[in-house]
Amino acid sequence: MPAGGHPHAAPTPAHYGMIVRQAEPVNLEMPFGSLDQFVTRTEDFFVRCHFPIPEITRDRWRLRIRGLVQRPVELAFDELQAMPASSVTATLECAGNGRVFLSPSVGGAQWERGAVGNAVWTGVPLGYVLERAGLPAEASEIILTGTDEGEIEAPPRPGGRIRYARSLPLGKATGDVLLAWQMNGADLTPAHGFPLRAIVPGWYGMASVKWLSDIIVTDRPFQGYYQSVDYAYWQRSTGEPSLVPITELHVKSQIARPGPCERVPRGGAYLVRGAAWTCEAEIVRVEVSTDGGLHWSDARLGRHTDRHAWRLWEYDWAIPREPGRTTLMTRAHDSKGRTQPAKRDPDRGAYMINEVLGLDVMVQ
Ligand code: MTE
Repeated sequence: MPAGGHPHAAPTPAHYGMIVRQAEPVNLEMPFGSLDQFVTRTEDFFVRCHFPIPEITRDRWRLRIRGLVQRPVELAFDELQAMPASSVTATLECAGNGRVFLSPSVGGAQWERGAVGNAVWTGVPLGYVLERAGLPAEASEIILTGTDEGEIEAPPRPGGRIRYARSLPLGKATGDVLLAWQMNGADLTPAHGFPLRAIVPGWYGMASVKWLSDIIVTDRPFQGYYQSVDYAYWQRSTGEPSLVPITELHVKSQIARPGPCERVPRGGAYLVRGAAWTCEAEIVRVEVSTDGGLHWSDARLGRHTDRHAWRLWEYDWAIPREPGRTTLMTRAHDSKGRTQPAKRDPDRGAYMINEVLGLDVMVQ
């Protein structure tokens, strides 16, 4: 890579082996059946972009911290890298992962199971950088803004070009959020946010702003497009539904193998495999049903139990002797007593799809 340059100049075969949901802006899905290890290889990790990937030269790039701060700060990449770094293994799931299974169908990228991945991220805690700028007592939210920009096509939409931005409450921002420059031990690739992105462990992927350039401290709720129109859902905690931003991951499990409509040999043995994840808790149990939810058995859980990472699981299935269609289902439970709901909550719109889903296979 040229010093301080763009790691991949020309279009690369980065799409190989991925499902292309959209070519431009690029949106790539991992074929979830290929899940074979705890840490997802960078080239297998899904890509979600709302706008074209910005071309950034690391030497000229700066991170600005401004708004309600005691001292506005501007940092070059080298200055950030000289700060105390730490790593977190964290699962990112797009809030629309599984959208294609919704009925009636909804708009947006038609993700199946592969808008999720688990990687090791390295960078400096956001809280450390905020401390440099100094926060006044009234600071309540931190807005993270990317360099990418474009126009929104469908109404309701703001006029002109906007940049991708999301906010975090101060407590989360000064907690476990990282400003990461590495993914799986190497520089971020352009698609995953080179040179710097936020990693917000335990939250849906939309919070982990890529190509980060501006951090704005404010004392009021941010109501940007990707916070209030997109990536928001209806909540009824105060009576009538009101729109609130999507935040924490909901407990969920997915089958990687077999795949939808796979043909499996009758009377044979099959190792059913998959992953399960949640927010701020451990996955303690995954149940599997191979008869459409009539009977459930426990899966074996993988040994990795990182707090913010998914847990792999597997289950030995004795395939029935009778040919025909059968439905596989899974249900994860976490250490906070949460489990996957049986039915869809329509207030979630096109997001947070963690209800128990069936996967049909053909016994033959
Ligand atoms: N950050 C910027 N600047 N622009 C984006 O379009 N997409 C978000 C988030 N951060 C996005 C962004 C969404 S919706 C998701 S799910 C994650 O990035 C995906 O991260 P990945 O592409 O590295 O998998």
